[in-house]
Amino acid sequence: MRIIIQKNFEELSEWAANYIARSIQLANPSEEKPFVMGLPTGSSPLGVYKKLIVLYKAKKVSFKHVITFNMDEYVGIPKDHPQSYHSFMWNNFFSHIDIPAQNVNILNGNAPDLKKECTGYEEKIKKVGGIDLFLGGIGPDGHLAFNEPGSSLSSRTRDKNLNYDTIIANSRFFDNDPDKVPKTALSVGIGTVLDSKEVLIVVNGFGKARALKHAVEKGVNHMWTISALQLHPKGMIVCDDTSTNELKVGTYRHFKSLEKNNLDPKKLLDSDLVW
Ligand code: GLP
Repeated sequence: MRIIIQKNFEELSEWAANYIARSIQLANPSEEKPFVMGLPTGSSPLGVYKKLIVLYKAKKVSFKHVITFNMDEYVGIPKDHPQSYHSFMWNNFFSHIDIPAQNVNILNGNAPDLKKECTGYEEKIKKVGGIDLFLGGIGPDGHLAFNEPGSSLSSRTRDKNLNYDTIIANSRFFDNDPDKVPKTALSVGIGTVLDSKEVLIVVNGFGKARALKHAVEKGVNHMWTISALQLHPKGMIVCDDTSTNELKVGTYRHFKSLEKNNLDPKKLLDSDLVW
């Protein structure tokens, strides 16, 4: 697993956005051979989306032949609810880039048959050739998408009950009222994420320090579902300095020195470096 430690949120976002743009450039996608991405919501990827929009406006990257699959969606709130992940994605990213609407896939939390919605999502991912790059964030309890502690590490897309910690954490988007937070969501599984060719997780802030420790230093464990990233041949965490607060000094130094020549986000885009 690669761990890229950046100074702050700004720089980790720039690094991840440049890496994504570079991956799309290198794939040189076309209608016949699109680039397929998994995408998250939440505050962690917001900086990445902002930077990708800047890169798109500067004509460094196009999303015309990019297909996206979002990780998760709440069950039972209208698609146009301001806190639906559908609204989040269009407001913060899709409306500002050239992605065709038909290339965007977001689970429908109001589907009449939720099980069918989930199996259909998995089939659709397979049909487009699998996910090339899955971008993700994590919750303070180490959950990936809505794979809460105790989720199977081979899980596929399905409906999940949210745990108390996540309801409290996400109540900040629902007038700080836990009662207003939906209690169920549809989520890709850990198995779905691990099937991707590459996984990039962004982690920032002190609140994620314990989760980062479990992801990097502890064993693979279903109570910290992000730890399953250790099983992926091309898993990478891009984090800020604050979130490394619970890592051992030795772990911190190890990854800083391993990646010392790869830390400058500026070098990612305009170099000939092939990833
Ligand atoms: C939600 C989402 C996750 C996300 C997490 C962290 O629970 N389902 O995909 O990673 O929140 O959100 P934030 O980035 O705002 O801390």
